[in-house]
Amino acid sequence: MSPILRPNVLEFFSNSAAQTRRVGMRLGELLRPSDLICLTGDLGSGKTTLTQGIAAGWGSSDQVSSPTFVLVNVYRKPNGARLYHLDAYRLGGPSEADDLDLDTMLATGPMIIEWADRITPALPDEHLLIASRWIADERREMVFSAHGSHYQTLLDALRQRVYAV
Ligand SMILES: Nc1ncnc2c1ncn2[C@@H]1O[C@H](COP(=O)(O)OP(=O)(O)OP(=O)(O)O)[C@@H](O)[C@H]1O
Ligand SMILES: [Mg+2]
Repeated sequence: MSPILRPNVLEFFSNSAAQTRRVGMRLGELLRPSDLICLTGDLGSGKTTLTQGIAAGWGSSDQVSSPTFVLVNVYRKPNGARLYHLDAYRLGGPSEADDLDLDTMLATGPMIIEWADRITPALPDEHLLIASRWIADERREMVFSAHGSHYQTLLDALRQRVYAV
């Protein structure tokens, strides 16, 4: 279906890791505290690569790596603002996510969650979902969908930035 007919969805094809980071940067520049970005997609589909761009665009020069072993990475701006990066892959399920007290973290910064579909019941209904899919060695599909009016506004702003010439 055409994206015009589905304003809450933006479908994007990336031809390189660098291009995925650039789209992430465009999104990161828009993020504010309490913004929740849920990432889904198989191993190697580009979730952490996208997050590298988001963190850079948001304004952190901290190195972004997979938080597989620590569950939550925190990236900072020089002014102390925080961006949270979670990986739900190793969580036992939504109840373990509840133990992390995500709401308290979200109140103080934007949050990106890899493998968010593993803990869906623990997450707010309103969020930006980005589903990534491996197509070929360097090619990935990323489908952005807005859940809730705030994320619709965010997606509209992102669409303008991605397609601006
Ligand atoms: N177009 C592309 N977009 C994103 N990554 C790409 C692209 N083309 C090649 N790659 C490569 O694919 C790999 C993606 O790995 P990445 O760690 O981002 O995936 P992931 O979805 O976070 O996996 P995991 O589920 O293991 O955390 C990287 O090595 C990256 O360089
Ligand atoms: Mg990853």
